[in-house]
Amino acid sequence: MRVAVISGASSGMGREFVKMTAQRGGIDEIWVIARRKERLEALQTEVRVPLRLLPLDLTREESYGEYSALLERHKPDVAFLVNASGFGKFGRYDEIPLEDSVNMIELNCKSMVRVTTLTLPYMKAGGRIVQVDSMSAFQPVPYMSIYGATKAFVLSYARSLNVELRPRNIKVMAFCPYWVQTEFFDHAWETSKTAVTNYNKIYTAEEVVRVAMRDSEKGRDVCVPGLSNKLQVVATKLLPHKLIMKIWMKQQKH
Ligand SMILES: NC(=O)c1ccc[n+]([C@@H]2O[C@H](COP(=O)([O-])OP(=O)(O)OC[C@H]3O[C@@H](n4cnc5c(N)ncnc54)[C@H](OP(=O)(O)O)[C@@H]3O)[C@@H](O)[C@H]2O)c1
Repeated sequence: MRVAVISGASSGMGREFVKMTAQRGGIDEIWVIARRKERLEALQTEVRVPLRLLPLDLTREESYGEYSALLERHKPDVAFLVNASGFGKFGRYDEIPLEDSVNMIELNCKSMVRVTTLTLPYMKAGGRIVQVDSMSAFQPVPYMSIYGATKAFVLSYARSLNVELRPRNIKVMAFCPYWVQTEFFDHAWETSKTAVTNYNKIYTAEEVVRVAMRDSEKGRDVCVPGLSNKLQVVATKLLPHKLIMKIWMKQQKH
């Protein structure tokens, strides 16, 4: 049984990955992970490929027992894995509750490592992994400091894992979009509405996931949708990060 496993499937980019994966064909079942079961059920009405609903909270230890047991029982051939569960919080260091900061690290970093590591024994040559990252991976981001740090972790992890998996012919891609119109902002603004106020452009999930699907199929290791965003990444490699942060702070009126 050829399977795709997609976390964060109940909304935003994860949901879009499910829809596009179903359209591509060649997959017998898509395993969709998120906490809101009703959202996952609703998604089944939108795609023709059967979905296996895994209503798991990836910050909870017991979820991994359930996921491992399912893999062990069905022994699927996981052809495509997308880790899109994640969240961010905006605000100064003392505005973001410590619990939120720790949970960000838990979900954005640790859950990605756990899902990836548990899934890899079930992947064959030709398999692909998309780790949903962010443009904030490329520079320190004041007022989103923990979030930015989690995304720097994802970039480093995805790129090095991609090299380690070369002998198995499994490709790993860090997908680094700019701002995307999703429920991300509902959560990010809970802690501060004034810390981050300047958004040059906001993409749709469909726009950026389309690029991610294409780049992953091409075997790319990093995907940054949009020419201006690619140029910004080049700038973060050429200019001192002190200056990059100064520009960011000015844009955000701090
Ligand atoms: N939107 C942006 O501007 C942007 C830009 C760059 C990168 N990103 C990254 O893109 C990824 C996807 O975010 P999005 O923008 O699509 O936001 P979103 O619409 O809020 O989606 C987040 C997904 O993560 C799931 N999730 C949250 N907590 C979870 C938990 N404890 N266990 C399991 N699943 C959980 C949510 O489902 P449930 O609530 O149902 O559990 C939801 O499906 C995140 O890693 C985000 O950091 C976003």
